[in-house]
Formats: sequence, structure tokens, C-alpha cells
Amino acid sequence: MRLYFPLLVCLAAALSTAAISSPLDLWTKLILTQQWPNTFCSVEHHCHPNFSYWTLHGLWPDKGNNCNSSWHFNSSEIEDLLPDMKKSWPDLLNPSSVQFWKYEWSKHGTCAAEAASLNSQHKYFSKALELYHKVDLNSMLMKFNITPSDKYYTFSEIEEGMTNFYGVKPKIQCVHPSKNSEPQVLGQIEICFDADFTLLDCEKHFTISTFSRGSLDHPLGVTKPSGLSVCSYDIPVYYPPTP
Ligand SMILES: *[C@@H]1O[C@H](CO)[C@@H](O)[C@H](O)[C@H]1NC(C)=O
Ligand SMILES: *[C@@H]1O[C@H](CO)[C@@H](O)[C@H](O)[C@H]1NC(C)=O
Ligand SMILES: *[C@@H]1O[C@H](CO)[C@@H](O)[C@H](O)[C@H]1NC(C)=O
Repeated sequence: MRLYFPLLVCLAAALSTAAISSPLDLWTKLILTQQWPNTFCSVEHHCHPNFSYWTLHGLWPDKGNNCNSSWHFNSSEIEDLLPDMKKSWPDLLNPSSVQFWKYEWSKHGTCAAEAASLNSQHKYFSKALELYHKVDLNSMLMKFNITPSDKYYTFSEIEEGMTNFYGVKPKIQCVHPSKNSEPQVLGQIEICFDADFTLLDCEKHFTISTFSRGSLDHPLGVTKPSGLSVCSYDIPVYYPPTP
């Protein structure tokens, strides 16, 4: 038995190393998150709500945050994408800055990049843009006559329209009212993909996330009155027109 002991230790060490670098540890789902600028700007100061369409918030793998702190965002690497980035993925707090993209790259992109299909800044950002245009949420909602207006919707009609159209369940989030008599406000929509970029059901997490930079895209964000959470079936939904 004594002879085997070192061998077992080696084996255990080898196995645990294998587990750490194993592909099983890789993310398995990507969450394409889009925001309604006017709702985002209703909970942020110094905001530019002048976008009359859903804009990208991020492309988030389901595992990991800040996976490689030495891999810095470099906008030269996505030079050719910048016109589309400015239009489709604007920083609503500061439209002329690259800060938002830098933040999303460090927090989520460096983790997405653990997969060969997304292992460069260009691959990551161009895939996010590609998926954004492919799902074309803006046209989809219009097709179902869900347009920003002063009339309220039921959450079921929005959710059913989307689920029928995409064939998978999105995760739809609202800013909840502080008073009982008020509607909830449509704010953010997540559409999920597997590692091959095929549409997938999003799970419903009944957790609250907030719109603020620090915790907005953290799935386990803290509870705040202005926070976003999965829309309720019991409250009318307001989809606010762009000012
Ligand atoms: C919104 O306003 C900002 C700042 O005034 C400007 O930079 C941006 O181009 C505008 N966006 C649109 C879509 O009009
Ligand atoms: C982190 O990023 C740097 C810079 O791109 C790269 O050289 C390094 O291999 C990466 N580290 C890991 C663990 O992927
Ligand atoms: C940014 O990327 C460009 C183009 O790939 C490269 O020439 C440049 O050295 C990079 N800058 C930094 C600071 O890494």
C-alpha cells in the first residue's frame, strides 16, 4: 500500500489539474442582452435616451467574470466595427467614449474568449453585433404590434409573441413600480445561445439586477427599488416612447 500512495497523490493532483483546465469548466451559454434606452435613462442621470431602438448591453457567458485582467481593450482591433458599435452598442451615459465596451470586454469578453470561436476582441465584438442583427428584436416587436406607446401591454402578450417568434424563451425584465397603481416599465431583454450560437431557452432567474454599471450585469445583483427583475404577469407593462 505504501508504494501506491505517492502514485495516488500524483494521480489526484493530475486529476484536479485536469478539472481546472477541462473544457467542462467552460461557459455553455451566451446571453445577448439588450436594453431599452429610455427605461435605462429613467434610472440613470446624465443619460442620452435619444435612441429609438433597442441597443446592445452585452454578450455574457454564463460562467466567469474578469477572466484575464492582462488582456486590455484596444479599440484599434475593432476599428472596422466602430460605426456599427456606435449605433448598435452605444454608451448611453457617454456616447463618445469607449468606456462601456472596455468594461464589457474586461468583465465578460475575456471570459467568452476562453472559447476558440471568440478568442479575440474582434471575434467577440463582431459576434455580438452579428447576433444582435440576427435576432433583430426591433423588427420582431414591431411585427407583433408591440411598439413604444402610451397604451399598456400585458406581459403575456409580449412574452408569447417573442417565444413564438424565436422558438425559445427569452428573459424579459422590467423596472418595477414603487407604487401599486403604476405599471412596470419594460427595460431589458435577454436572448440566449449555446456555444454554437444556436438559440436556447433562457432560464428564469427571479433575481433582481440593477441598471447601474457595477452590478447591472451581475446575475446576482442586489435588490434596489430601481432594480430590474423579470416582469410580472400581474402588472400592466409600459413600453415608454423615446422622448
Ligand atoms: C444622441 O445624443 C448624443 C449626445 O447628444 C449624440 O452623440 C448621439 O449621436 C445621439 N444619438 C442619436 C441616435 O441621435
Ligand atoms: C491573457 O491575455 C494575455 C494578453 O492577450 C495573453 O497573452 C494570455 O495568454 C492570456 N492568459 C490566459 C490565461 O488566457
Ligand atoms: C492595439 O491594437 C493595434 C492593432 O492590432 C496594435 O497595433 C497596437 O499595438 C495595440 N495597442 C496596444 C496598446 O496594445
